[in-house]
Amino acid sequence: MPTAETTATRPAPLTRDDIPGWFFRLDRAAFGHLLAAQTTAGATGDILELGSYLGRSAVLLGDHLQTGERLTVCDLFDSEAGDADNAAEMAMSYRKTLTRSAFEANYLAFHGELPEIVQAPTSVLADGRIPAGSCRFVHVDASHLYEHVAGDIAVTRAALADNGVVALDDYRSEHTPGVSAAVWEAVFTGGLRPVLLTPMKFYGTWGDAAAVRQVLLARDWRAEGYTVDDDTIAGEPVLRLNYQVKAPVQQSTSRRLALDLLPPVATRATRRVLRTLRERRAVRPVPAS
Ligand SMILES: C[S@@+](CC[C@H](N)C(=O)[O-])C[C@H]1O[C@@H](n2cnc3c(N)ncnc32)[C@H](O)[C@@H]1O
Repeated sequence: MPTAETTATRPAPLTRDDIPGWFFRLDRAAFGHLLAAQTTAGATGDILELGSYLGRSAVLLGDHLQTGERLTVCDLFDSEAGDADNAAEMAMSYRKTLTRSAFEANYLAFHGELPEIVQAPTSVLADGRIPAGSCRFVHVDASHLYEHVAGDIAVTRAALADNGVVALDDYRSEHTPGVSAAVWEAVFTGGLRPVLLTPMKFYGTWGDAAAVRQVLLARDWRAEGYTVDDDTIAGEPVLRLNYQVKAPVQQSTSRRLALDLLPPVATRATRRVLRTLRERRAVRPVPAS
């Protein structure tokens, strides 16, 4: 359980970046773009998030709610997990910092009222409490275990309206093979159509993938510092967005000096980190979620 100190002494966030979490610039832009385009096109519907942690992504989802729409978030927060593997995941990544009240305080720093909160394993949503076809956007970012993610995708499929969009986190991280398995299973056996891949998230729809693609292509991502690539997966076109990597600069004297002065272990570690970042061409500034 989080200590009183970790939860009670954290100051209220002044900006969205003050909320700890794993929701970065590119996916923030993609969520905002897709949600705003739905609103512009007159597509109404609820928004659902499975896995909210301290609210970093939920706050953005809340920005896009229109009159009559509802945001539901589902997270264990400080409740026990339903099985040992999930409990281990919670202990390793979230227990020290996560409470429901911390989520609520963060959310209320940016919005007048809380979303609908389901404090429970996401598997409870299979009971049909989210009306079928009611959602225009679902963010799946909870457990990383295959069985759980497959269940979350089934809940999502039932919840999404015809042309609704799902964003699935950690579909390709080294430490989350179960998420990858569930996501690609949904594509190859469940009719989920990929539309966009970012370093962190897979975006897809069971509806009109070409229409979602047109919406994405309407924005000049390159001008905003992103790379845009076109791929095909089993005959289906899919966009890839990533962060542009700045051209390599001559190593400055101060940087060389710093590397020289660091103790050898730190220097090796620093070089390893820099190399990994270069090789991956992916930006993930904090430990994996
Ligand atoms: C990666 S964090 C979510 C990050 C958040 N969306 C963000 O962008 O900052 C994963 C969250 O899923 C929750 N979680 C893990 N397993 C869960 C389960 N079986 N049911 C509900 N929530 C779960 C954890 O409590 C944690 O808050």
